[in-house]
Amino acid sequence: MLLELAGLTHSYADGHLAIDSLDLTVRDGELVSIVGPSGCGKSTLLRCIAGLIRPTGGTVTLDGEAIVGVPDNLAVVFQDYSRSLFPWLTVRDNVALPLRRRGKSKQERREAALEALEEVGLADAARKYPWQLSGGMQQRVSIARALAYRPSLLLMDEPFGSVDAQTREDLEDLVLKVHRAEKMTILLVTHDIDESVYVGDRVVILGKSPTGVRADLPVTLPAERDQIETRGLPEFVRLRAEVGRLVRGGATEADAKSDAKTDADTEADTEADAADKAEDKAEDKAEDKAEDKAESKPEGKADVVKKPDTTKTSIAAAAAKKPAAKKAEQATGETDAKTTGETTATTTGKDEAVAAKAAPSGDKPA
Ligand SMILES: Nc1ncnc2c1ncn2[C@@H]1O[C@H](COP(=O)(O)OP(=O)(O)OP(=O)(O)O)[C@@H](O)[C@H]1O
Ligand SMILES: [Mg+2]
Repeated sequence: MLLELAGLTHSYADGHLAIDSLDLTVRDGELVSIVGPSGCGKSTLLRCIAGLIRPTGGTVTLDGEAIVGVPDNLAVVFQDYSRSLFPWLTVRDNVALPLRRRGKSKQERREAALEALEEVGLADAARKYPWQLSGGMQQRVSIARALAYRPSLLLMDEPFGSVDAQTREDLEDLVLKVHRAEKMTILLVTHDIDESVYVGDRVVILGKSPTGVRADLPVTLPAERDQIETRGLPEFVRLRAEVGRLVRGGATEADAKSDAKTDADTEADTEADAADKAEDKAEDKAEDKAEDKAESKPEGKADVVKKPDTTKTSIAAAAAKKPAAKKAEQATGETDAKTTGETTATTTGKDEAVAAKAAPSGDKPA
């Protein structure tokens, strides 16, 4: 299942631009970790992919077909797990419910649900109701439900945020196991940098709001991951440091290139400044000289003092200034064009309202 996002833009009904022209391609069977500052637009991105909100710009396609509405074979583990389970169904029935769409018998659905609950360490809670469980346990039920469905595309939004460290590691390994066994495509949003590297085939780092892709790092670690061994590898240590640096706003390769350009501009600016200073100095000197001359002349004759000729220095200064000024003009032109492009993002309030209605219970896998 090839997922392609091209120029994806989303502006909420209140005009808030959450995603600005985001491009991303996720190949079949890849596990892509997504990290980025809080509030940058990660959940918005997943909601656009899930077809729960319609982007206001750009396209989201699955195997070349535009996503309109929630795609088949998709499961989502929402960040807000407390609102994603049905309180009137037992834990087992919550997990079993979406399997109806798989055409399984009641017996098969219940067996699959129990198996998934066992995988997340909740076999004993099968007959309880969600409200009888802790937050972390409810989150694990949501994960069990998504995994039991065996989707081709799984979107997970901070799926392990509320569980203890040991359970978190077990769940990471469970996701890796299911990912390998079922060859499903997974997008996993996380705030945990180590986790993003540990589970990912790639780590996509999003920039602050309005978000876009800042960097896309391949995880060059052996496919088989082990909580102790993998985390001790020099490559793991290097990658987590790099992801951490980028999430904190450190320079990307593209930034480094544009910095080099800025340095050149600054150099040119400095030259122009020097020329300006030389011009000022020459003018001051000439004026002082003229004043002195005027003062030394008898009164009434000062008005005939000729203005100092600074033409020569002015031309020299202008010549030195020219490249920088030209570059500055070009830069302004580029910025203007970009700003104009940005403001062309439109908001379709109606679509947003429809999506908002779908969202609270929208975690039901298609
Ligand atoms: N329904 C909405 N209407 C208007 N603005 C919204 C709406 N939902 C989210 N936003 C804004 O869009 C931006 C992105 O929100 P989003 O929830 O996607 O961020 P996030 O990266 O998932 O954050 P976090 O890491 O805290 O989960 C935020 O500034 C948020 O305030
Ligand atoms: Mg979020």
